[in-house]
Amino acid sequence: MYSDKVMDHFSNPRNVGEIENADGVGEVGNASCGDIMKIFLKVEDNVIKDVKFKTFGCGAAIATSSMVTEMAIGKTIEEALELTNAAVAEALDGLPAQKLHCSNLAADALHEAIRNYKEKQA
Ligand code: FES
Repeated sequence: MYSDKVMDHFSNPRNVGEIENADGVGEVGNASCGDIMKIFLKVEDNVIKDVKFKTFGCGAAIATSSMVTEMAIGKTIEEALELTNAAVAEALDGLPAQKLHCSNLAADALHEAIRNYKEKQA
């Protein structure tokens, strides 16, 4: 029921962990199941240099977290803000319909971390 990409990112998640003295931190919870995703950013010259995540959630949430970190690294803040939850699910070759809500955490947590980064800059 899961694509090979979902299984790969779930079994071997990229960029797990925390960034000490992160430039931005974002945390979101999924209202439908209570799962939580936290994302840490390192930003240099408006470019996302590093992203790490911690997700207390299901396999699909872990796979989408892992994928969003890979998609965000190297992007400018503006480009990263354009990343959508749907784009993350698409990059994983889709999710089963009943697990689509799990992808709602991914880009939302990233955007939240960017908001936090901008607040710190202001
Ligand atoms: Fe909660 Fe998937 S069941 S994020």
